[in-house]
Amino acid sequence: MYCLLKLASLFVAIAFSHGWLFSDSGKKLNVLDEVSLWPLPQKFQTSAVSFQLSANSFQIVHAKDSTAGPSCSLLQNAFRRYFEYIFGEVRKQDKSRKRASNSDLVELQVWISSADPQCDGYPSLQSDESYELSVDQPSAVLKAPNVWGALRGLETFSQLIYKDDYGANNINKTVISDFPRFAHRGVLLDTSRHYLPLKVILANLEAMAINKLNVFHWHIVDDPSFPFLSRTFPELSQKGAYNPFTHVYTPSDVKMVIEFARMRGIRVIPEFDTPGHTQAWGKGQKDLLTPCYSGSTPSGTFGPVNPILNSTYEFMAQFFKEISTVFPDAYVHLGGDEVDFSCWKSNPDIQRFMEQHSFGTDYRKLESFYIQRLLDIVTTTKKGYMVWQEVFDNGVKLKEDTVVEVWIGNKMEEELQNVTRAGFTTILSAPWYLDWISYGQDWQRYYKVEPLSFPGTDEQKKLVIGGEACLWGEYVDATNLTPRLWPRASAVAERLWSDEKVTDLNNAYERLAQHRCRMVKRGIPAEPLFVGHCRHEYNSP
Ligand SMILES: *[C@@H]1O[C@H](CO)[C@@H](O)[C@H](O)[C@H]1NC(C)=O
Repeated sequence: MYCLLKLASLFVAIAFSHGWLFSDSGKKLNVLDEVSLWPLPQKFQTSAVSFQLSANSFQIVHAKDSTAGPSCSLLQNAFRRYFEYIFGEVRKQDKSRKRASNSDLVELQVWISSADPQCDGYPSLQSDESYELSVDQPSAVLKAPNVWGALRGLETFSQLIYKDDYGANNINKTVISDFPRFAHRGVLLDTSRHYLPLKVILANLEAMAINKLNVFHWHIVDDPSFPFLSRTFPELSQKGAYNPFTHVYTPSDVKMVIEFARMRGIRVIPEFDTPGHTQAWGKGQKDLLTPCYSGSTPSGTFGPVNPILNSTYEFMAQFFKEISTVFPDAYVHLGGDEVDFSCWKSNPDIQRFMEQHSFGTDYRKLESFYIQRLLDIVTTTKKGYMVWQEVFDNGVKLKEDTVVEVWIGNKMEEELQNVTRAGFTTILSAPWYLDWISYGQDWQRYYKVEPLSFPGTDEQKKLVIGGEACLWGEYVDATNLTPRLWPRASAVAERLWSDEKVTDLNNAYERLAQHRCRMVKRGIPAEPLFVGHCRHEYNSP
């Protein structure tokens, strides 16, 4: 028996030495069409030697030398999740373990190598998401410095598995070495234009993990509604939410989102946009917004946050103190976009303030005055901040580690040039406003974007840390969010993860069509790219 085994493995070894298919960054990938990795790993070699996996004999385990073990609930949870993605829910009677045959792959060993596996930590901008995956008999090995890379590697492992003609699970001998090109790979969802039930947010976090995206930019409040339930200022949502009971995110809801995201290596960065986009704030916080005037009398309408009252800054200090304890990420997004000056202009108290401060008639100076004070307040909570590009454009003095988000489409390259020349880190969302829909395969447009195509030095380009796909909520709620976002955001996901040379649209189409079917199989109603079918069609949740 031993002899036979030995002979078999010799045969396999010879097959290997002849069967390797090399691939570096997307060249000659047609052989991978059954497998369709998405986003494409940085480096991989695969061979025509295949192994079978069966639910009865295969397991995902901690490697002997791993610094993480069964007490690492983040990994335990991920092992279970990926086992189910691979085999479906295994019925109880099937649980009896079968002896493996020698063409079987019996385990995936997950080996965390750094002293601190970060099982109980939160992902951050600095997280190392690299991993190495080797699929071979009798065990596959996934090695990563810490849990964040392990999560990415588990997803890749699950994507390598395909069904053969008899419906059995197969995986080929493969070696992968992978890491993201950009550290910040985000999705913006807007829960103010429409309330999004918790379930929808969680489902999309799951889809993000499948696409190796790692930042949930939660545009949580805006003009139309204020669904965030603040413990310090409960009136904000009591008066500002669409419904104070059913259309709010309670502290435990928020906790659940953050933990669900953490388990998938996703950061949650909340955005509390001011001084514009704040109509809903005004309902629950008296005197926060500027009263607009018509002629010499208040018109009864309100404009942006009132920048001339001390009470405004006292409120912001308390509010952001709470935010810094609720959201663990090192960054909070402070907005600062699209401030409408007409109301400020109409108000005689504001006019007087402008004179006292020699601002002339330049209301950008007043805006900067407000933002500057807000930034100083937020800094005392030990948070870093992100802002929309206007804050930089208006010359506000920013902390060194500020992330400037470039969102305005025309002159985008000029803006990237300016922001990075000034030494600030930046992320790009201008080409990826997924709320703009049109006929045809617009994913290709998102896919073709090269974030570093602007003129600038290498030092400047290093300051571009990633980008975000933004799905603003004017025309989006739970009924259409998921199919509108996927697989369109997948195009952005590959652009931000894979090597810059991965640009072949035909190859991307083949892989993305299958990746989309994989999402459908996993219960995500991702829309089709074009004419075709999936082996497992969507069959309602
Ligand atoms: C996997 O192996 C099978 C043969 O066992 C081969 O037909 C197929 O092309 C291989 N796939 C890849 C991606 O190498």
